[in-house]
Amino acid sequence: MTPRALAAFLLLSAATSVPAFAQPAPPAATAGSNRALSPQDRARALVAAMTTEEKLAIIHGYFPPLAKPVTPIAMTPSAGHIPGIPRLGIPTLRESDASLGVANQIEQRKGDTATALPASLATAASFDPRIAYAGGAMIGAEARAKTFNVLLAGGVNLTRDPWNGRNFEYMGEDPLLSGVMAGEHIRGVQSNHIVSTIKHFALNSQETGRTVLDARIDKAALRESDLLAFEIATEIGDPASVMCAYNKVNGDYACENDWLLNGVLKRDWGYKGFVMSDWGAVHSAEKAALAGLDQESGQELDDAIHFAQPFEEAFKAGRIPMARLDDMVTRILHGVIASGLMDDPVPDTVRQIDYAAHANVAQQAAEQGIVLLKNEGDLLPLARTARRIVLIGAHADVGVLSGGGSSQVRSVGGAPVEIPLTKGAAASFARMTWHASSPMKAIQALAPQAEVVYVDGSDPKAAAQAAKDADIAIVFAWQWQTEAQDTETIRLPDNQDAMIDAVASANRKTIVVLETGGPVEMPWLAKVPALVEAWYPGQRGGEAIANVLLGDVNPSGRLPITFPVSASQAPRSMPAGLPELRAADARRAAGDTGNYGMTGGVAPFSVDYPEGAEIGYRWYAKTGRKPLFPFGYGLTYTRFAYANLKVQDGPALTVSFDVTNTGARTGADAPQLYVEAKSSAGVAAYRLAGFDKLTLSPGETRRVSMTVDPRVIARFDEAARKWHLDGGTYALTVGHFAGDSALRGTATLQPQTLKP
Ligand code: BGC
Repeated sequence: MTPRALAAFLLLSAATSVPAFAQPAPPAATAGSNRALSPQDRARALVAAMTTEEKLAIIHGYFPPLAKPVTPIAMTPSAGHIPGIPRLGIPTLRESDASLGVANQIEQRKGDTATALPASLATAASFDPRIAYAGGAMIGAEARAKTFNVLLAGGVNLTRDPWNGRNFEYMGEDPLLSGVMAGEHIRGVQSNHIVSTIKHFALNSQETGRTVLDARIDKAALRESDLLAFEIATEIGDPASVMCAYNKVNGDYACENDWLLNGVLKRDWGYKGFVMSDWGAVHSAEKAALAGLDQESGQELDDAIHFAQPFEEAFKAGRIPMARLDDMVTRILHGVIASGLMDDPVPDTVRQIDYAAHANVAQQAAEQGIVLLKNEGDLLPLARTARRIVLIGAHADVGVLSGGGSSQVRSVGGAPVEIPLTKGAAASFARMTWHASSPMKAIQALAPQAEVVYVDGSDPKAAAQAAKDADIAIVFAWQWQTEAQDTETIRLPDNQDAMIDAVASANRKTIVVLETGGPVEMPWLAKVPALVEAWYPGQRGGEAIANVLLGDVNPSGRLPITFPVSASQAPRSMPAGLPELRAADARRAAGDTGNYGMTGGVAPFSVDYPEGAEIGYRWYAKTGRKPLFPFGYGLTYTRFAYANLKVQDGPALTVSFDVTNTGARTGADAPQLYVEAKSSAGVAAYRLAGFDKLTLSPGETRRVSMTVDPRVIARFDEAARKWHLDGGTYALTVGHFAGDSALRGTATLQPQTLKP
């Protein structure tokens, strides 16, 4: 034996031999339930007790509506399931969407309602991690009570384009805000001992052509933006699973992208859970498995069921080694154990839910997320002396709008308005749906002295006449967004701009309440004295809006996303892939009935993201453009002042200052810290480096302290796979929104190199 071989032999025997005095090892399956062991050791013990067939069965899941053979559980309409292994206590994984509640998109489960949170963008707008946690905990509890043990929540793709159809499902444009809020949301979901995902990993930044597009970006820039949001959220929320996205990233599909899955996620971040695919996002067995995909989801939606027969063939031929299969299964079980699901299995009978308490969670999220954008002459809160109030548009007599797609919750109270789609990629699984939360009833309840009437707003002249006859006109403007389709413009649809203009011309006390999935252009803004962004406000949105308008709630939401003057201010002014989409539509119109699966016949195209890490407010700072409303912006019915800045620098950066409520009402403020840093691209980079949310009574002062996560202001070196914080002087500002500088300071920082 050579010395090297001897050393290897000794090492190996040390690792595998049992010392004479040790107890005999417990049988592997028992070790799987030994809570004294780490989740990873427990998962490994279970894997050691599994047959190869059992391992091969757990790496792919069924999509109920298409699944064969038909088992009762396979037919429960939901996102999918993976059969468990009862002899080892491994539960069947029962998956449901999504981040806003237990979804039931087009009422596949007849009569099954759930509590609908507002859009995640509204939760992000609260700037309050406690709101994100409470929402996650509430929807996780409902998932559990409804027998689901995997909630496909945790959407955290950064907003790169204002027209992205899924912006409402995400947490905005900033990595720190999004990462913290999504992390807390996931932590809340998993507090119920169920699995949550974080999704869609990564750069699924537009919906048009999402299954065919190649998203191209500089890798370091991606680390400093979208990936940083995922990294922070993963650290805080510790999601049991990561869902890889539909699109390609720099040439490889996200679900077979070695750099993303094996490199960034598993090697650099040390992620121990499992990667599940998005539904219909798998394109190979061997390539995907070797790149780091651990489980194929909703397999019947893929172009082939890759992780069944093709996987087995590659496995038998030795092209996928047993070690990799074991790793896949260990990771899945790690998620099941670490989330608490293994030790606290979800009962398989539906349990009662306290819907009244849960509705309050949804309402609080909506109230904290509503953003007051304009309030000339303090028109709001509404004086309770108005005799006649007219509400115009958006079905404000019966409900509030919600966003479409897999996240659609059929909320408690039902859907008073539901409009099916006649065409488009979302037509099969989305309808325009209103939650039964009537702003009209809620306003009437808070303003009993007034006559509150409703006109639908379809005729600008009639709307203007109704406004003329009223003391106050409140226009509810809507823009519906959905998964699978981007809006092609960010103008309000259905002639609403003309209607708002006419109403504002007829009554100068016009208030506009937006129910939108993100920013819209507002050509009428100068004429409208008061403006409120209510997003898709969820199941108690009507009550939340009324409380803000009448002053029972002091608005404290801040924009988690920049509102451009027009789409042309943003890096791209319309979705890429529109020509490819139109060509597919034209073929269909000409009679082509081909089944193109998930692609819808859209030819592959690529999208470049030359703005790199400089997205959202960073883009506006870099290019010197002035948006309509900046990131972080939002008014209140009181005022806040900042003073006594103190900067503690050196190796760590901590900034503290006083916040005072200088107005006459109790209210909540979201002070923000921005640092001027340098990105990997060498450009001056403006970064949100801290935020807080605090409630103060009139005259009250509280000291706020923010310690900066150095990664937020560092640049990523992709070759060295490390963050670098350059030593030197950094300018910083404390303000009410991006670009504001209520307080200015500098910090002198020592150089630092940080692990990825
Ligand atoms: C969406 C995912 C969702 C999945 C299962 C996909 O179309 O992109 O977010 O979790 O469907 O419904």
